[in-house]
Amino acid sequence: MSDRIYSRIAGTGSYLPEKVLTNDDLAKLVDTSDEWIASRTGIRERHVAAEGETTCDLAYNAAMRALEAAGVEASELDLIVLGTTTPDLIFPSTACLVQHRLGANGCPAFDVNAACSGFVYALSVADKFIRSGAARTVLVIGAETLTRMVDWTERTSCVLFGDGAGAVVLKADAETGILSTHLHADGGKKELLWNPVGVSVGFKPDEPNAGVRINMTGNDVFKHAVKALDAIVEETLEANGLDRHEIDWLIPHQANLRIIEATAKRLDLPMERVVVTVDRHGNTSSGSVPLALDEAVRSGKVQRGQLLLLEAFGGGFTWGSALLRY
Ligand code: COA
Repeated sequence: MSDRIYSRIAGTGSYLPEKVLTNDDLAKLVDTSDEWIASRTGIRERHVAAEGETTCDLAYNAAMRALEAAGVEASELDLIVLGTTTPDLIFPSTACLVQHRLGANGCPAFDVNAACSGFVYALSVADKFIRSGAARTVLVIGAETLTRMVDWTERTSCVLFGDGAGAVVLKADAETGILSTHLHADGGKKELLWNPVGVSVGFKPDEPNAGVRINMTGNDVFKHAVKALDAIVEETLEANGLDRHEIDWLIPHQANLRIIEATAKRLDLPMERVVVTVDRHGNTSSGSVPLALDEAVRSGKVQRGQLLLLEAFGGGFTWGSALLRY
């Protein structure tokens, strides 16, 4: 037995808002078609939060399911880390709002904003807390209501995004768990994928949509995403002295099926070993990886002892990966 501490996933949970928006529904709003959206992105439908339903609501429901699956009481939590780029409020953090609703008051709680890489970033931070001995039981959440900053008249981006949340409970374990995490960012590519609205830069309410919309140069983002994910997959395998064929499941960020297929090809992994939810969820940003993980666990695809590779890419740019023995 080693004296190393691992962060083991004790339970997973997820939550999707009830309302479903199909590609055909979108074709009534903008000049698009199910055929175009499905062939370019793999997306067929996405969930959209109801009026008044917030990121905290989605996060709370996902968290409750993860706690239940882990057999952990909220009062046992030492830390809550929540990845989001669509917080309920500027402050307090959504992690604090969730903490109070869970009745876990007292433990530290904070948000991580790394856009679509938010969950992988949050997982990495939580893993460091556990490895250092600063926490033993941690709730990690990825939750978003991205459709709140979608411009429903802009066909190039409104077809891509959806709302949802996923969560995991991590527990300190002597035997197995997260083997390594890898994080990167390149702030030089800011304008390729961003939302220019902000507090410190000042609000511009007289501009169309008050600036609260996602701006994206899709083609360029696509190319950068594939390249960065190729590199991080190699980095992760090398850091662990692993051959790519040893990976049991790829659990990727769900932005575009073609990006996912490119990463799977790099790993020489058949698509049957890749968890795909983008067809039903669209891009839920920080919610996407834990949503896919929870679905794979609950459907019985992912089994204890298997080697999972999680990865994500998003605005910033940010990108990251986590290799874990489930
Ligand atoms: N329906 C129909 N046509 C559309 C459309 C839509 N929803 N959106 C764009 N088009 C049109 C464009 O206007 C363009 O028309 P043109 O050739 O007459 O100028 C044509 O389709 C091709 O557009 P293009 O942007 O080159 O398509 P693409 O193959 O790059 O696909 C994305 C666009 C957005 C699907 C793709 O670039 C992508 O997925 N990028 C990554 C986005 C991403 O993952 N972002 C989040 C990262 S976390």
